Amino acid sequence: MTTWIQDVIDAVYVIAVLVFILGLRAMSSPTTARRGIVYAGCAMLIAVVVTFFSPSLSNFLLIFIGVAIGGLGGWYWARVVKMTAMPQMVAMFNGMGGGSAAAIAAVELLSNLSNYATSGLSVAGGIIGSISIAGSIIAFLKLQGWMTSKPVVLPARQIVNTAVLIVGVAFGGYALIVLNTLWLLPFYILLLLYGILLTLPIGGADMPVVISLFNALTGIAVGLDGFALVNGPLGDAGYAMVIAGVLVGSAGSLLTFLMAKAMNRSVSNVFFSAFGATEETGAAIKGQLKPIDAADVAAMMAYANQVIIVPGYGMAVAQAQQKVKELADLLETKGVTVKFAIHPVAGRMPGHMNVLLAEAGISYDKLFDRDEINAEFPATDLAFVIGANDVVNPAAHRQGSPLYGMPILDVEQAKNVIVNKRGQGKGFAGIENDLFYRDNCHMLYGDAQAAVGQLVSELKKL
Ligand code: TAP
Repeated sequence: MTTWIQDVIDAVYVIAVLVFILGLRAMSSPTTARRGIVYAGCAMLIAVVVTFFSPSLSNFLLIFIGVAIGGLGGWYWARVVKMTAMPQMVAMFNGMGGGSAAAIAAVELLSNLSNYATSGLSVAGGIIGSISIAGSIIAFLKLQGWMTSKPVVLPARQIVNTAVLIVGVAFGGYALIVLNTLWLLPFYILLLLYGILLTLPIGGADMPVVISLFNALTGIAVGLDGFALVNGPLGDAGYAMVIAGVLVGSAGSLLTFLMAKAMNRSVSNVFFSAFGATEETGAAIKGQLKPIDAADVAAMMAYANQVIIVPGYGMAVAQAQQKVKELADLLETKGVTVKFAIHPVAGRMPGHMNVLLAEAGISYDKLFDRDEINAEFPATDLAFVIGANDVVNPAAHRQGSPLYGMPILDVEQAKNVIVNKRGQGKGFAGIENDLFYRDNCHMLYGDAQAAVGQLVSELKKL
């Protein structure tokens, strides 16, 4: 029976949902994104706190222990994580969401297997949540470097994977038919196995898309669990879960498709093609690497009309963004136009470069995405690539290359290209880059922070 307390709780859930939506809206622009995160955090806090007032809630001690472990762990890891390790943390946090959805589904199934409609939704939540947590753990291990980031291609993987999925789902269906919870054990084991098998053949370079899709799946699983809970004693919390799940599911799906589009690939190609498992053959690189020193680069920059800076993962590792800002400011005082070309998957997570450059105080109107800036390279005197590799690899234009078709920044078309990196390291996709050997390209070797720092000192002398 609905009491006034439940009415108040319902009203607070609606407020929480509105704050969630406002947060999501604010996250769509870099200038308001920080506020969006705060809104979303507050909405989550409101939803969690108000749930404690639900008359049907019991087991407070257990819940507090769970909240304390999760809250302290999340707070600690979010504080100590390095910016470069953020993708694997996001993968892990997403996975936790999927695991929670799978666990909620399991509790529902174990306690209430008689209700067909409810149990069907819980089985669906269990399937998606299990795939999401198992896949996210593999994504974490690959990004953390605790297992190979190359595609692990097992024999007859498509047949084996499909069989594991079908048999796993069949166990869940059978549990519903015979109303026996025993069948849920092989159901969960096989779905977890499927999550692992699905993610193993995906190379590290595709992980952002994978993480994003698992994030979307987690949202969908939570939404399905919410539907299942609506009929139970915690029905109001179920509605909140449905709305939060739908928001995460739709936002995550959109991000997944946008990222796949940025690589000119379909989502199914990312998941099922074992991209990067084969090396390009027969594409011998001509030319040689031509080192250059900071004094010469500084002179070239000082006399340029326009310099386009292309940051990549190396700038993030070296934490060189402050030095890059100093460089850009200095060039502008010398009358050089400075623009930044941002590739959507430069670095290791969506928006990685934008966040770092914003942190250094570089204004957004100087940042241009691929479509906006590519046409400008031929008229640009100097493109300065800082710790970027895959996103400027012309192999993407060459049929037969594993990178073929991936949209890149066409820096090789600039009159001069200077690439800063430490040595002969390959990019994340592990593919040789013939840009570095082109006639118009010179290599400024060294850690990005030190190298850009040297450039700044040399420019000050001019
Ligand atoms: P990468 O292709 O990974 O190349 C980074 C380059 O930076 C390396 O060649 C490395 O060469 C150099 N480097 C490393 N540390 C450095 C330092 N301290 N100072 C100077 N240079 C340094 O980077 P990218 O061009 O930004 O491309 C990103 C890649 O990551 C893509 O393949 C993308 O698909 C993948 N990825 C992206 C994301 C997202 S969403 N952004 C997430 C996961 C993976 P040396 O070792 O020779 O220095």
